[in-house]
Amino acid sequence: MISMKKVLALFIVAVVLLLSIIAYHRYLYETKSLFYSIFPIYSWALVDQPILFNHLHHKETVQLNCSFCHRYAEKYLAAGLPKIELCRACHATDAMSKRPEALKVIEYVKADKEIPWNRMYELPKYVAFPHWIHIQNHIDCSICHGFTGVKERPLKMVDRNDMEWCMDCHKKRRASNDCYTCHSS
Ligand code: HEC
Ligand code: HEC
Ligand code: HEC
Ligand code: HEC
Ligand code: HEC
Repeated sequence: MISMKKVLALFIVAVVLLLSIIAYHRYLYETKSLFYSIFPIYSWALVDQPILFNHLHHKETVQLNCSFCHRYAEKYLAAGLPKIELCRACHATDAMSKRPEALKVIEYVKADKEIPWNRMYELPKYVAFPHWIHIQNHIDCSICHGFTGVKERPLKMVDRNDMEWCMDCHKKRRASNDCYTCHSS
């Protein structure tokens, strides 16, 4: 005998499933952001790098600003990744840090070689993204890069920086949403 309760429970599960499938296809952006706001942990993706650079240590122990290393963000399109010259200032010897990952930096400094970082945020070539305009409009790095700049290991936010996300904020902030704004060529 199947009890009435079981039938009801099954029915509810089926309805919820059906509704979520419809919501997913009909309101992809809204469902996606709702999902990530309930389970923020899924919006982080660990990224492998030749050296596990620690943003948090540089922020807390030496209090470096983001633009100390990403020095083009305020004036140019790209934010820029730091060259090995900049690391040399503190990591020519192990005086600053004897942590294993920091010792790897010394090797690159000695060999005068750039560290081959894997890029985390990289839009396709057909999108133009100007950092400077956003910084001048007082949009904080963390709005678009989340925890990337303040964590112990390289980490990418996967819930943002796609077209719907850009357009959603442009709509709210009354910035242009013409196709040519972001796809100029
Ligand atoms: C001491 C230098 C230094 C400072 C200070 C610094 N960064 Fe970085 N940042 C790096 C290096 C080196 C990388 C490349 C390694 C990596 O991806 O973790 C990087 C990578 C990044 C990336 C990913 C770039 C990409 O697309 O591959 C973002 C975003 C970023 N930093 C944001 C920030 C923010 C926000 C701050 C300030 C809170 C900050 N950084 C402060 C050195 C720095
Ligand atoms: C102004 C000085 C300064 C500069 C510039 C600097 N660092 Fe550091 N870095 C430090 C200090 C201080 C620590 C030690 C933190 C600790 O051991 O608690 C450190 C630690 C590290 C570590 C080890 C962290 C860990 O948890 O394993 C790595 C890797 C590192 N730095 C990479 C870099 C790279 C790559 C650059 C160039 C883009 C750079 N640093 C530029 C001061 C600096
Ligand atoms: C409005 C969103 C937004 C803001 C605000 C923002 N970024 Fe970015 N950032 C992006 C996007 C999108 C990319 C990928 C750009 C591309 O591929 O052309 C990116 C790329 C980067 C990169 C990769 C290297 C490069 O040269 O582009 C770094 C580093 C970075 N951002 C750091 C920062 C820092 C530091 C700040 C704050 C001063 C900041 N970003 C503010 C959206 C943003
Ligand atoms: C958090 C809000 C926000 C996000 C997210 C955002 N933008 Fe913007 N964007 C702005 C604001 C505000 C302006 C400035 C509008 C103005 O000055 O009229 C702007 C301006 C621009 C401009 C210049 C527009 C012009 O009139 O020349 C471009 C291009 C642009 N954004 C592209 C992007 C792209 C591509 C993304 C996604 C990767 C993005 N933006 C994400 C808020 C945002
Ligand atoms: C605020 C910036 C912005 C505006 C405005 C914008 N786009 Fe995009 N577009 C992007 C970004 C960023 C991507 C990168 C792909 C992604 O990850 O979504 C993209 C990707 C695309 C793609 C490739 C999509 C894919 O799935 O491969 C097409 C086609 C496109 N845009 C068409 C348009 C059209 C048509 C308009 C005008 C209605 C427009 N875009 C307006 C930012 C923008």
